Amino acid sequence: MTTHSDTTRRDFLIGLAGAGAVLAAPRAVFGNTLPPQETLPTRPIPGTEEALPIVGFGSSKPVLEIPTEGTEPLFGVIRILLEHGGRVVDTSPRTPEVDAEFGEVLQAPEFSGRLFVATKINTDGEASGIEQMRQNQRLTGSRTLDLLEVESMRDLDVHWPNVRRWKDSGEARYIGVTTSNIGQHDAFEAFMRSEPLDFVQVNYSVMEPNAEDRLLPLARDLGLGVLINRPFMNGSYFGRVSGRDLPEWASEFDCESWAQFSLKYILAHPAVTCALTETTNPDHMAENIGTAFGRLPDEATKRRMRQLVQDF
Ligand SMILES: NC(=O)c1ccc[n+]([C@@H]2O[C@H](COP(=O)([O-])OP(=O)(O)OC[C@H]3O[C@@H](n4cnc5c(N)ncnc54)[C@H](OP(=O)(O)O)[C@@H]3O)[C@@H](O)[C@H]2O)c1
Repeated sequence: MTTHSDTTRRDFLIGLAGAGAVLAAPRAVFGNTLPPQETLPTRPIPGTEEALPIVGFGSSKPVLEIPTEGTEPLFGVIRILLEHGGRVVDTSPRTPEVDAEFGEVLQAPEFSGRLFVATKINTDGEASGIEQMRQNQRLTGSRTLDLLEVESMRDLDVHWPNVRRWKDSGEARYIGVTTSNIGQHDAFEAFMRSEPLDFVQVNYSVMEPNAEDRLLPLARDLGLGVLINRPFMNGSYFGRVSGRDLPEWASEFDCESWAQFSLKYILAHPAVTCALTETTNPDHMAENIGTAFGRLPDEATKRRMRQLVQDF
């Protein structure tokens, strides 16, 4: 099911440099040649004809920073994503004011119709959940959401019947549930076994690999799309690896940075459809996209990666 590109890292870097003005910042990082650029590999959404690029954008931090930083960081990061064939943007309902501004970004003519937006319900109570559904529709400017998930299983029993109805009525193409907390994984697994889901979103990384014990194999058995959150444990991973040299053997799977080290670990799992990486920095988005090119670690190497990070 996995469709890893044979594209080499070098091709990707050359491609990044060829993207013109939009890639002005990454150009300084990656070089100056100008051949055609490469696009992100995709993986199928199981049971469908649709595929998603394997690296996406988790928008929490730049969206929450709209009141102080404005929307330019969001434009910058989403441009880089689209320039390289990405399209998955993950979000949750924010204040109506913030979502109105984020909606202007998502619905900007340069992005319109090109994104796969994963939206959520993250509130208590049915009426509030219905209002968030309407807020998600205003955010995306569409009656039909790409993906609607109940975030962190919050008030799940109350929201889930409505979520299923919205799928039946064509207001959500795909539906699912998310977790970012290992303590929730048992309940999450029980829900996966009991309800007809299209997608799950789970926390998984080289420092937090627990989902590979049961949730990811189960998602594969059930034929679910899988989005990954917390690839860098919201940044705390960088605290763990900071000041450490990347091991030489990282080059065996075309890994050039600590960010790529965790993302390579994630993308090597066959159940994963798309890893969401949160950033306010277009250069970081480009670096994270670069993970999708070249080789991925095998199981023995993944064990070595886990051990290395645990020992720090
Ligand atoms: N329950 C849920 O549904 C749930 C929970 C948590 C998260 N999520 C989703 O998952 C997304 C990602 O997870 P997360 O929030 O835990 O964040 P994360 O992606 O694990 O970490 C984000 C942090 O990593 C830094 N970063 C990103 N790329 C980098 C790079 N190449 N080099 C150095 N630093 C880099 C970012 O800083 P810079 O801005 O400086 O790049 C930011 O501080 C969220 O945005 C959200 O969409 C969902």
